Amino acid sequence: MANPRKILVTSALPYANGPIHIGHLVEYIQTDIWVKFQKLRGNKCIYLCADDTHGTAIMMSAQRKGCSEEEWIAAVSEEHQRDFAGFGIEFDNYGSTNSPENYELCKLFWQSFRNAGLVRKEAVTQLFDDEKGIFLADRFVRGTCPKCAADDQYGDSCDQCGATYSAREIINPVSTLSDTTPSVKTADHLFIQIEKLHDFLDQWTQSGEHLQSEIANYLKGHFLNEPLRDWDVSRPEPYFGFEIPDAPGHFWFVWFDAPIGYMASTKQYCDRTGEDFESWWKDPSTEIYHFIGKDITYFHTLFWPAMLKVAEFTLPKKIHIHGFLTVDGRKMSKRDGTFVKAETFLKHLNPAALRYYYASKLNNRVEDLDLNLKEFTTKVNTDLVGKVVNLASRTAKFVQQTGLSPEYPEDGGLFQKAAEAGDAIAAAYEACDFNRAIRLIIELADQANPYVESHQPWNLRKDPERQQELQDVCTVALNLFRQIAIYLQPVLPEIAEKTNSLLGDPIVKWEQAASPLTGTPVKQFEHMMKRIEEKDVNNMIEESKDENETVEAEENTTQSTDSAQPLIDEPLADEITFEEFAKVDLRVARVVKAEHVEEANKLLKLTLSLGGDETRQVFAGIKKAYNPEDLDGRLVVMVANLAPRKMRFGISEGMITAAGPGGEEVFMLAIDEGAQPGQRVH
Ligand code: MSP
Ligand code: ZN
Repeated sequence: MANPRKILVTSALPYANGPIHIGHLVEYIQTDIWVKFQKLRGNKCIYLCADDTHGTAIMMSAQRKGCSEEEWIAAVSEEHQRDFAGFGIEFDNYGSTNSPENYELCKLFWQSFRNAGLVRKEAVTQLFDDEKGIFLADRFVRGTCPKCAADDQYGDSCDQCGATYSAREIINPVSTLSDTTPSVKTADHLFIQIEKLHDFLDQWTQSGEHLQSEIANYLKGHFLNEPLRDWDVSRPEPYFGFEIPDAPGHFWFVWFDAPIGYMASTKQYCDRTGEDFESWWKDPSTEIYHFIGKDITYFHTLFWPAMLKVAEFTLPKKIHIHGFLTVDGRKMSKRDGTFVKAETFLKHLNPAALRYYYASKLNNRVEDLDLNLKEFTTKVNTDLVGKVVNLASRTAKFVQQTGLSPEYPEDGGLFQKAAEAGDAIAAAYEACDFNRAIRLIIELADQANPYVESHQPWNLRKDPERQQELQDVCTVALNLFRQIAIYLQPVLPEIAEKTNSLLGDPIVKWEQAASPLTGTPVKQFEHMMKRIEEKDVNNMIEESKDENETVEAEENTTQSTDSAQPLIDEPLADEITFEEFAKVDLRVARVVKAEHVEEANKLLKLTLSLGGDETRQVFAGIKKAYNPEDLDGRLVVMVANLAPRKMRFGISEGMITAAGPGGEEVFMLAIDEGAQPGQRVH
């Protein structure tokens, strides 16, 4: 192998005001797999994390518990670390943003901003809770919507009419912390003029090297297309955080010190191991990778690079952004019992099953990931237990006395083929396309199993004449199994561990998958992984049910006044000019007839009127989503100048427009009342 790379990896720092749940685990499991892969490849790789401990929410949690903030965050940190360890997630250091190392680094960043002349002061007027004595972030305020007068709405947006506003505009505001009416108060805040780094951020985010393309496009379309707003980085006291040395009574906003926590955790790691901090954060040959969820994109792709740039540290090589977890197609919910805490999961199910399932679903796009509980059970039982573990459990016992054959037997090229697959599997891991890695690995199991079945070791065993053959068949099966265990090691370290004990040859390097083991003893087979029982899944869900769901899970809020817009999952297409857009002739059309097409299970045949006698026949893939009867007479938007296409059932003379992934999820575009068939859509 070439020189080992030096790679520093982080996951987002979880808030110290709630437990780790299966949503968080999408990220920590994903990162841990990537790190374990890098280590197995022989790279120098460290994985750092910490608790994110500052801010109003944590102050309030501590108050509710009647303890100090320090006591509260110490207790939470212990729980978080216990939960992560329970899922086999191994950090090289787990710190806290409330550490002396972090304070020192914050001062350094702050000084750089001051020196660069990027800090300015401005008075900010906010609602103030007189009883609690604190300024109220928008989400701690409820009241009547200033636009539609709906009662009991959030401080920043209305559920009823969708309006967004500032908490000061809300009618009859109430502090959710004390149920009292807040007053209005003004205090100075410090702002960073991030607009002065606009050119740098344009170049860094759009270079195509550091961000997924959908993220780069999102930033360009939502933020970088206009001047960047100054970033409010201070909060007046009382606030749980670090006091700003040159602004007494003012504290750094939690999102200022949180990402610096990545570095503070590195500092602790270096102090413990004697390594050099600057070689991690100042040496351009070090590759820095941040794994985060899409909700905190803005902080990591604009503020954080700006901070690193100004303070002259190494910029991240990649910020890898993942989507959110849904369970059975829906947002995690306490009422449904799908808001499953890590701790609850561990009580009922094997953490390896979740690691495997998430790996099989993760790719390198920003899509949401669905935990389908039925699929979870089948995938683990069929693929992992049925195809992988079975390879060893069905053969190991027959060679316990003899060990493996002294020479690797003829196997029809199976071992060689699996060794050659190693590069493609590694490339998939490297690209965070774990779904592909798992598919390639399971393909290997699909080739190995027929070998065992056709040689039937359980029958060979009964024939004293064929003991050599038995040993050879089991030698092949166990070697094919071991290759798979090596490739799966980043996902399932425990199975690799058990393979070590079985075959007595520790898995420490990826390349071990290229050479077979021969002539070594085989220990007693110890059970590696049990099937998932449906009842365990059900019990876990039952235990997670809580009727008193708070409207929004606090863990998912970004503790920011800058609202992070939801991301679009599909990358934007290349930019086009108006002239190019104008080539597409979109027209309002009325459905005059909608019919089933025999033999077609996706298509409906539509007759569309474009006004007068102009009609078009269009075959549309909407059968799973719409009944023909419901379409009669409705208006649609069609692409009217699309070249006619010959289909099996006739000619299609255009296309109707719709959104959604397809199948049952197709949503046709409608047009407001008053539009006439034949009118052009611009
Ligand atoms: N404290 C901030 C991060 C600061 S990093 C300098 C934070 N904490 S969090 O606890 O809310 O989230 C931690 C990570 O978990 C984030 O990357 C977030 O996107 C991710 N997830 C939290 N809930 C999630 C799901 N339901 N699904 C997938 N990932 C989720 O944000
Ligand atoms: Zn409203």
